[in-house]
Amino acid sequence: MKRIVILISGRGSNMQAIVRACAAERWSAQVVAVVSNRADAAGLAFAQRQGIATAVVDHRAYASREDFDAALASAIEGYAPDAVALAGFMRILTDGFVARFAGRLVNVHPSLLPAFTGLHTHRRAIEAGCKLAGATVHFVTPALDHGPIIAQAVVPVLPGDTPEALSARVLEREHVMYPRALSWLVHDQLRLDGGVVTHTQGEPQLFL
Ligand code: GAR
Repeated sequence: MKRIVILISGRGSNMQAIVRACAAERWSAQVVAVVSNRADAAGLAFAQRQGIATAVVDHRAYASREDFDAALASAIEGYAPDAVALAGFMRILTDGFVARFAGRLVNVHPSLLPAFTGLHTHRRAIEAGCKLAGATVHFVTPALDHGPIIAQAVVPVLPGDTPEALSARVLEREHVMYPRALSWLVHDQLRLDGGVVTHTQGEPQLFL
């Protein structure tokens, strides 16, 4: 049984989608802990109701990013994870942290990477006149919002879209894509070759 740790900073709707898919699809894996940098992250209550261990490592209690990441890493290591999933975790991680979890650390980002790294992705996509938007699940590497792409979900940008409307349309697809992508990782169905990720059985990595 593989062990998954999920990191959140807020609502945790992707975390919930992963927990539900893991149980409903009977993965050979379980979500063993949900860790947040914020004690008031709404998603923690859901995890607790599911009987999943939770932990808070408050970034404000640490003098430097390195100190915070060291504390976060040891909290995560305590759960001996095979996979660590960032799900709306809104802290930039140090190179040391990323190296420690290399190959088992994945993230969902609300844009079609490599476009729109960073924040306010939906507003920026609308302002750029994009006709397509979406989200990306990728392996985490030291460069922010870069790293080999495991899956992408695409949605239209509609005339008159607000960032909120576009965000809701993208989030719905994240909830389908992220559990699938994580399930591939924990079931050893991903191959990484020269920075390109393929699914070993040829499952479509594009979610339309
Ligand atoms: C999601 O849309 C996710 O893609 C985004 O935050 C939201 C979290 O929602 N992540 C980032 O912006 C990471 N840079 P959730 O807490 O309901 O899963």
